[in-house]
Amino acid sequence: MDIAINMINAEQPILPINTPASLDISSFGGDIFGENTPDPLRFGFRRKLSAHAGGGSHNPIAPDQIQPLAQQILQLTDPPFNKRCLYVHIPFCRVRCTYCSFFEYASSQRLIDDYFAALMVELKYKAAQPWTQAAPFQAVYIGGGTPTDLTAAQIKQLGTMIRHHFPLASDCELTLEGRINRFSDEMFESALEGGFNRFSFGVQSFDTQVRRKAKRLDDRDIVLKRVSELAATDQAPIVIDLLYGLPYQNLDVWQQDLNDFLDSGTHGVDLYQLIEMGNTPMGKMVEQGRLPEPADTMTKASMFEMGVDYMAKHHLRRLSVNHWARDNRERSCYNSLAKTTAEVLPLGAGAGGNVGGYGYMQHRKLERYMDDVNSQRIPLAMMVKSSPHAAVNTAIKAGFDRGVIIAKQLDKQAGWPLFSFCMPLFQQWQQHGFVEIEQLGHHRYLNLTLAGQFWAVTLAQALIQVITTATVKAQS
Ligand SMILES: C[S@@+](CC[C@H](N)C(=O)[O-])C[C@H]1O[C@@H](n2cnc3c(N)ncnc32)[C@H](O)[C@@H]1O
Ligand code: SF4
Repeated sequence: MDIAINMINAEQPILPINTPASLDISSFGGDIFGENTPDPLRFGFRRKLSAHAGGGSHNPIAPDQIQPLAQQILQLTDPPFNKRCLYVHIPFCRVRCTYCSFFEYASSQRLIDDYFAALMVELKYKAAQPWTQAAPFQAVYIGGGTPTDLTAAQIKQLGTMIRHHFPLASDCELTLEGRINRFSDEMFESALEGGFNRFSFGVQSFDTQVRRKAKRLDDRDIVLKRVSELAATDQAPIVIDLLYGLPYQNLDVWQQDLNDFLDSGTHGVDLYQLIEMGNTPMGKMVEQGRLPEPADTMTKASMFEMGVDYMAKHHLRRLSVNHWARDNRERSCYNSLAKTTAEVLPLGAGAGGNVGGYGYMQHRKLERYMDDVNSQRIPLAMMVKSSPHAAVNTAIKAGFDRGVIIAKQLDKQAGWPLFSFCMPLFQQWQQHGFVEIEQLGHHRYLNLTLAGQFWAVTLAQALIQVITTATVKAQS
C-alpha cells in the first residue's frame, strides 16, 4: 500500500512518494530489536559501543571548495534563524586520564600561549562575519580537553572577548569546562569577571583509589572540598560529571559517589557510563594485567539504576536520561540546544559544528590550525553538506536523550507521518521492555522505560539505521 506524503519541507523529502505505509521489519534482528529477556535493563543489548548516536550519510565538500563555500555561508544574513551556540575547543590536559579518548595535547605554557593567540585571531574573524552578527547566541561552551588549564588571565580574556565581539542573548549561558585541579579562587574570580556563568567540572569519581588508578590529580577530600566551596559561593551553577564503571569503582564506591555529589551542594550532575575505547591507556593496562577489568555492562546497568533511583528519591529534577539539576539555576542550555536544532559555530583546533546546512570539523593538528588562522584561512579540515535526514536524525537523538519521542514533533520534522511508519519497530521494542507507547487523545508518545533510558544511544542508532535502510530501499 502506498501513502500520499504530506511534505512540509518539499525540498527535503525524507522518503520518496512510493514509501509503504509502515515499516517492514522482517529483515532486522537482535541488534535492532534488542533481546527478548525478562531483564532488558541488564541484558537488552550486548553493549553500548559509542557515547553518541551516529547521524546517517553526509556529502563531503571537495577540499578546494571548502574555503570559498565556508566564507560564503558566513555572509548569510537571511532569517529565519535557528537558535545559535558557540563552541570553543581547548585541546590541552595536564595529565592524560587512563580511560579518556579525548586527550590531545599535554599542557605546556608555551604551546597554550601560541594556541591562545591564534584562537583570538579566529574569534575576531568569525565574530565579525555578517552571519554571526545577524542574530543572538543563546549558549557558549568552552570545552576540551581542559579549558581550566588556561591561565586566569586567559580565561578572563576569553570570556571578555566573546562577550565583546559576539551578539549574545541577555540570558546567554557561558559554560567553562574543566577540572578543579589548580582551579584557585583567582581563577574562579577571573572566570566570573570574564562573564562565565556556569562551570562544569569533571570529577568522574570522588573515591581516592579509583581516582589514583585513573590518573586523576587530586584525592577525594580535596575534590569534595573544592567543588563544595565553589557551589557554596552561589556565584554560578556548578555542575559535575561522574563516570560509572571505572576500575575499582564497585557498587559501594558508586553509592558513595552519589552521596558525595548530594553532599557537595553542586547544582547539577551528569552520570556517564564508562565507554571502553581500545586506544586508551586503560585498555592497555587491563590487557597487561596492571588494572582490573572495568565493570561489565550488567554492572553498569545496575549502577545506572542506582543513580536514577537515587536522584528520584532526593528530588533532583531530571533534564535528560543522564543529567539532573538540583534547582532551576542549572538549565543546561548548551547541551539541550546543541542536541536539537541549534546551529553551532566552532572555534579552535578540533572543534566541530554546523552552520547553514553544513557540518564542519576544524583541524586537530595544532600546527595546521595555527598556520591556517595566521594565514587568514578558516581552519577547516572537513566540511560536509548535511544529509536531508540530518534534522530528523537530530530530532531522534534529542528525543532519546530526553527520554521521549513526541509523535507530533517527529512528524513535523520529517514532513510526513514517520511516527506511525515506525510503529512496527516501536511495538517490538515495547514487547522487549524498552519503551511504552502512550496515546493521550490525539497525542502519541514513545516513552523510554528505565531499560530504554540505559540503552538510549543504542536505540537511537537503531532507529536511524532502520529509517536510512527503508529510505535506500524505497529509492532503489
Ligand atoms: C572531554 S572531558 C573534559 C573534562 C575535563 N577535562 C576533566 O578532566 O574532567 C568531558 C567528560 O567526558 C567524559 N568521558 C571521558 N572519557 C570517557 C569515557 N571513556 N567514557 C565515557 N565518558 C567519558 C568524562 O566524564 C568527562 O568529564
Ligand atoms: S578526562 Fe579531561 S583531563 Fe582527563 S584526559 Fe580526558 S579531557 Fe583530559
